[in-house]
Amino acid sequence: MKIGLLGFGVVGRGVYEIAASQKNMQVTKVLCLENISLPDAEPVKDFAEILNDPEIDTVVEAMGGLHPSHEFAVAALKAGKNYVTSNKALVCTYYEELVPLAEEMGVKLRCTAAVGGGIGWLSELERSRRAQTINQVGGIMNGTCNYILDHMTRFGMGYDQALKQAQSLGYAEANPATDVEGIDTWHKVILSANVAFGITLDKESVPVAGIAGIQAQDVANFAAHGLVCKLMSAAKRTETGFDVYVQPQLVPQGDPEAAVPLNYNLITFLGQTSDRMSFYGQGAGRYPTAYNVVEDLIDVAAGKGFYAPYGPKVTALNSETMAYYVRGGWDGETREHWGDAVVTMPVSVARMHAWRKDHPDAFIAGLSE
Ligand code: HSE
Repeated sequence: MKIGLLGFGVVGRGVYEIAASQKNMQVTKVLCLENISLPDAEPVKDFAEILNDPEIDTVVEAMGGLHPSHEFAVAALKAGKNYVTSNKALVCTYYEELVPLAEEMGVKLRCTAAVGGGIGWLSELERSRRAQTINQVGGIMNGTCNYILDHMTRFGMGYDQALKQAQSLGYAEANPATDVEGIDTWHKVILSANVAFGITLDKESVPVAGIAGIQAQDVANFAAHGLVCKLMSAAKRTETGFDVYVQPQLVPQGDPEAAVPLNYNLITFLGQTSDRMSFYGQGAGRYPTAYNVVEDLIDVAAGKGFYAPYGPKVTALNSETMAYYVRGGWDGETREHWGDAVVTMPVSVARMHAWRKDHPDAFIAGLSE
């Protein structure tokens, strides 16, 4: 396998190092705008040098962002090259284009590192969905948010300092607002639901609330009630369709999710026959993520393509109801007061997220009953 590698940052450099130790795998060209010199690959500054190289059969993208990643992915697939990426924003945003295009061109598209960093989550979903119906997926999918919430909860660290540390450890996106506003988790749960359920979610129907507004007083409120806050995703098959959403969730201190430390992720599916299966590991960082990219390369060499067939378009309904912790302006029915915040009577996920759209400064967190 001859590989053209796009990007030589946190993940790209890791892919280069790990690929060098594999059999039958050679990174021959690396697209990098900075001046680098490599012992056994040619650094290039123009993507065309990779695209037009007939020896390169597989392109790995580890640049992140949507542009020019999108243009590069389409061009590479159209040129008949396999494509492996860790870029969840790319595959989620252009799902409707890239998945059918890879199928049409008869080339392999994989992105296991896009969800869960080093966890073989999408590749396990690919296996699990063959033998059973999957009814639910979700969990903790963002290492940066988990790192921040964990440091605020266990060490009383301030939000800003915890975010800075997560950035310096290479966990955060180039624009960390993507992490803390829940967009990264949103990309990941949409991709997971598409694979698990064999659907193509209407992204706009999936609401998202992040952790950006959380304060020390919220964390103290949660601790006083034996609860821990985690940024969680959920995608559930219901009697009428699908509920899919991303929001801070308050989980009891004894729950497995409450104990997830640092940059780790804990992602779960509920299968009709297997029931609960949870996957735990480093959700961000150079070597875990690069390891999963290399796993994909091995799978591509073995003939594996995308994880599930391209499925029909589906709108998330979000009729599930739960009580919410709200700090900031809640004017609906209230069950309790926790300091400056309230706990609402149960409301639907759809209603709460619609309310929050009009109150963007409010901090909300669902209560797991
Ligand atoms: N910024 C992401 C995270 C990187 O913190 O989880 C891994 O997808």
